[in-house]
Amino acid sequence: MNSFPRHEGLTRKFRRSLLDWYYVHRRDLPWRANRDPYRVWISEIMLQQTRVAAVIGHYHEFLRRFPTVKKLAKARESSVLAAWSGLGYYRRAHMLHAAARMIVRQRGGVFPDRAEQWLDLPGIGRYTAAAIASIAFDEPVAVVDGNVERVLQRVSGKALTRERFWNTAQYLLDVEHPGNFNQAMMELGATVCTPRAPACLTCPIVDLCATRGETATTKSIPQKKREIHYSLVCRGDRHHGGEVSLVRRPLDASLMAGMWELPEIEPPNGDGKLAFTVRHSITVTDYTVRVWSGGTARSLNCRWFGTSKLKEIALTGLTRKILRKAEIL
Ligand code: ADE
Repeated sequence: MNSFPRHEGLTRKFRRSLLDWYYVHRRDLPWRANRDPYRVWISEIMLQQTRVAAVIGHYHEFLRRFPTVKKLAKARESSVLAAWSGLGYYRRAHMLHAAARMIVRQRGGVFPDRAEQWLDLPGIGRYTAAAIASIAFDEPVAVVDGNVERVLQRVSGKALTRERFWNTAQYLLDVEHPGNFNQAMMELGATVCTPRAPACLTCPIVDLCATRGETATTKSIPQKKREIHYSLVCRGDRHHGGEVSLVRRPLDASLMAGMWELPEIEPPNGDGKLAFTVRHSITVTDYTVRVWSGGTARSLNCRWFGTSKLKEIALTGLTRKILRKAEIL
């Protein structure tokens, strides 16, 4: 079941107004430069759970290091994770690498051209399969992500079920321009039909919208607050040729498995020296991160790394942030 009026004229107007708007107002994003499936795929994986602004820098660097699926398939897992450092949700990098190997080994390096086949690859769900197949191969399949859900909810003025979102998006899809239509829906949600203060005055489909911003508010989830403490232990001149002590996260950790970070410590009781404090937010938690210096590297699992080597290893995003603040990286 679809939730938009079954009216040919209105539906055509919706498509045309949205696409005309998109061609003029779309952001100039690096993955829109062409429709190379490798580039589209990498961008869609990075954009899962991560904002556009945070992806752009990593996207360029990742393509510089791994310009083709063959290079990515041949790379070591640790260097793929290192290139992913800072983007978070590292399972994505692990699965991207596994999928690259499958594409090279099982398909001779040829990308699937249909959403259904993309679904067979690791890290690809319904949204990502449809996004890649429509953008890179013009397959007429609609996408639904958080932005599209919000647009459809407001346009229809109804609370929709998951399946209903997909059916409505598929009904509205411009089958002549599926990739651009899908990106236009997402773009509208990201830049105009925003969660808190939708810019209805500039919306290309405001005439066709049942709510026009009335159901504008979505409650934000309250963030949890936590304090964590790390030890920053260096030997030699930390800015020149010195070394820093890091520990490796367990290989079976559910988050950031196998990546390197500073040793986490209990809050020192009076004898430590606070170097600085940084804030770090992930999903629903705001961390206050206290970094203590002057201790000795005690943990059995610590390893010394020359500061010039730090660029080559997979550091967690927070570790990178701390080492930058300490002017070590
Ligand atoms: N979010 C994820 N992929 C996108 C794309 N191609 N355009 C706009 N927003 C997106």
